[in-house]
Amino acid sequence: MKVIVTGGAGFIGSNFVQHMVNKYPDYEIINLDLLTYAGNLENLKPVEDKPNYKFVKGDIADREFIFKLFEDEKPDVVVNFAAESHVDRSITDPEAFVRTNVMGTTTLLDACRTYGIKRYHQVSTDEVYGDLPLDRPELFFTEETPLHTSSPYSSSKASADLFVLAYHRTYGLPVTVSRCSNNYGPYHFPEKLIPLIISRALADEELPVYGTGENVRDWLHVADHCEAIDLVIHKGREGEVYNIGGHNERTNLEVVKTILKALDKPESLIRFVTDRPGHDMRYAIDPTKIETELGWEPKYNFDSGIQQTIQWYLDNQEWWKNILSGEYSGYFDKMYGNRL
Ligand code: NAD
Ligand code: DAU
Repeated sequence: MKVIVTGGAGFIGSNFVQHMVNKYPDYEIINLDLLTYAGNLENLKPVEDKPNYKFVKGDIADREFIFKLFEDEKPDVVVNFAAESHVDRSITDPEAFVRTNVMGTTTLLDACRTYGIKRYHQVSTDEVYGDLPLDRPELFFTEETPLHTSSPYSSSKASADLFVLAYHRTYGLPVTVSRCSNNYGPYHFPEKLIPLIISRALADEELPVYGTGENVRDWLHVADHCEAIDLVIHKGREGEVYNIGGHNERTNLEVVKTILKALDKPESLIRFVTDRPGHDMRYAIDPTKIETELGWEPKYNFDSGIQQTIQWYLDNQEWWKNILSGEYSGYFDKMYGNRL
């Protein structure tokens, strides 16, 4: 089996590539990534010399390049992680999100139609459902929840999902879609909340919390997400959407305080800063379908997962310090300069 994993040098994609290369030595895993600011080949060090792994640099929205790659490789399965993934960046530059997340997806779908594949899997997000109110804890996102997006990022992801499902209905393309809640774990890029707080707390720097910090996210360890996608591509039904989440809801302030406690750092580092425009209040996944239909269950709860993650950032300081000293340092000043 030959699998093209797009965006395999990013956070979740690199965890998934490592998972697949190690678990399926008979599969050929091709990691296709443009290496944007978020792509990092250091994330693939543990598998880069394995005979069943290959890296190809390229853009999923470059039609000529993608068709040539499919002509040469004739993949059986495509798993599409490649995306612009950060909500804050989508607010300052929406167009890049349309290009990669929408046009990149349709380019891949057209190549899949042309060359024939056994499965195209779209890695999507719970953000396509919009948000839930804080005073209705009994509400959860199911696969039937209407799409109701808030940010340019989530709108681009919802748009891509609709194209994927339309290619199933119109052309009979064998597709699946998974919509996961917030991931955390090794190789998480330090622009996102958890690695940002860990890295800044370790340096005794101010910690930006948007608004009041009451927004709720449903955290899933990246290893549990990778297991779920593995199950969906092998056993999921064509044309179906699967929600992935492990009922680990925390307010942002709870997350920040948990990290500070584990690192023995003071809460006085916290700064409440101007809120993200359109900031979603609460995400919460109902994972009943993937649990009952495919037998998926997460191995981590938030308490065990966050301790493992903090330890990984302590043990791999060179990894994130290299990122912080590069292009990203300019981003942080631009994004937070007048807020802190
Ligand atoms: P990431 O930003 O860490 O990685 C994205 C990767 O895609 C990078 O390696 C980047 O170089 C690559 N890429 C970007 N544009 C590309 C292009 N045009 N062609 C080829 N490669 C390109 O993102 P992530 O957090 O790992 O998220 C991966 C996927 O999972 C995304 O589709 C995202 O929407 C989805 N998702 C993320 C989360 C989360 O909590 N991080 C949760 C649910 C779903
Ligand atoms: O729910 C899945 C989504 O989770 C994915 O689709 C996205 O790709 C991924 O980036 C993530 O989106 P969020 O916007 O929820 O993640 P982020 O880490 O940016 O923010 C988490 C919460 O923390 C959110 O409520 C905003 C808040 N926050 C974030 C940052 C970066 C802060 O309070 N301060 C910050 O500096």
